Formats: sequence, C-alpha cells, structure tokens
Amino acid sequence: MTSPPIIGLNWKMNPADRDQTAALIAGMGERLSVMRSSQLILFPPAVFLDQVRALQKEYGVFVSLGVQDLSTQAVGSYTGEISAPMAFDSGAEFSLVGHSETRKRQALTDTEVKHKFERATEHSVVPILCIGYQEGSEEGDVDYDVIKQQVMTVLEDYRAYIREHGLIIAYEPTWAIGTGDPADPETIETVCLYIQKLIAELAGQDTLDEVYVLYGGSVNKDNVRAFLDITSLNGFLLGGASLKPEEVASIVEQVEEK
Ligand code: PGA
Repeated sequence: MTSPPIIGLNWKMNPADRDQTAALIAGMGERLSVMRSSQLILFPPAVFLDQVRALQKEYGVFVSLGVQDLSTQAVGSYTGEISAPMAFDSGAEFSLVGHSETRKRQALTDTEVKHKFERATEHSVVPILCIGYQEGSEEGDVDYDVIKQQVMTVLEDYRAYIREHGLIIAYEPTWAIGTGDPADPETIETVCLYIQKLIAELAGQDTLDEVYVLYGGSVNKDNVRAFLDITSLNGFLLGGASLKPEEVASIVEQVEEK
C-alpha cells in the first residue's frame, strides 16, 4: 500500500433518515476527529449532503464529500437525476462514476459511463471510475477484456487530463460486493498492476505517481490487514463497513499503521 491512501465510504441508500445520519456522523466524530494521513471521502445519499456538511463541521470530522452518481447530462429535463454542477454546488468534491450497482440499475453502457465522467471533469468534480463489472461472473473470475474495455472507453480521450490531474480508479468485482467474500490479495494485486499498465500505455509511465487504484468489495476491519502489503494498491472503497464508525476507525488505523 502506498501513501497517502484514499478510503472511500459509500453509504449507498443508507441511512434511513436524518436522525440516523446525525448519529453516524457523531459516531465518526468520536473516532475520526483528528487529522489523518489518509484521505477519507464520504459518499452519503445526495439528499443528506447539506446535513452531513453541517454536522461534519460541528463534530470536526475530516472527510471530503462526494456523490454516488451523476447524470450524463449537465442541464435539462431529467427527472430524478443529479447534475455535476448541482453536486459541486452542494459541496461534493468527488463522484463515484459507474459503480456496478449503478451500471446494473441504469443498464449503463461504457459510453454512458464516459459521459458521466465527462460531466464531472467539466464541472470541477473529481470522478472515481469504478470498474470490474461483469454480469453473471463467478468468484475469482477476472475478465481482462472487460476491464480493458471499461477503462479505455472512458479514458481514451483523457490522456491530457490524467497527466494534469491524476486519476482514481476503484476495482470492484461484482461477486465480492456485499457478499462478505472479498477478492484474494493476489487477484487484487494482479488487477491493480494491469490497470496501471493500461494507464501507463495511455498517459505515460510517469503519470502513475498520481494514479490511485482502490479496491472495493467486502473489506472490513478483520480482513483489511491481508491487503496492506499490496504495493500497487492505494486504498479502499468501503460499503457495508462504512456504516459502522468503529469499523471505519479500525480500518483507517490499520491502513495508517502500515
Ligand atoms: P461492500 O461494498 O464493502 O459492502 O462490499 C463495496 C461497494 O459497493 O463499494
């Protein structure tokens, strides 16, 4: 694991209401209110962004904020969608782009994921490109063609952007998300190196210092240690664990001790 690590906290469609949101931020405040060497990025439901922003100041929680998805469009009649300018104006510095649950629910093509990525970069939101989605894939499967297609379709026109701004990619095999059964460290390392090779071919080897590859899929406080020796890995995207402040604190501590 290289430093400084990034730890994303993807709350998905949780918590249920504002009271529980307040309790979660208070819990994080108790455990995470000192400046960290890792960068924490919290992705709450967008309707709670304002509340989270106010509470994080009150409790002194050092997290950046992000949204879980963005519209492919910047403006217009798109019921239910959140645009990149709205996200930015609400304090979101980051956005997940192409999370596997979003890809599936919206039946997204890689080109549509690219449009979301484009809207983010046009409106000062840093996209975190999630890849690794394979419909019907089995545990342990790594389809390098799918990974290559997901990376290249979105990023082929972004060579200059990557050189200027760097890049964050999250590798999240669908079979590991929410199952309690993460990918094994060897698989994660192999895929991280493969992603780095693709980016190096695209934007140059010298960009890799600013290219962060995260792993997501059933990471928790009891298994995170197994991933800390992966030198090509730069952090984690946590789902279930992100809703338990003591679990988040334990993961952050283990990552930072490394
Ligand atoms: P999980 O989710 O940690 O609950 O597996 C990860 C994610 O979907 O980002």
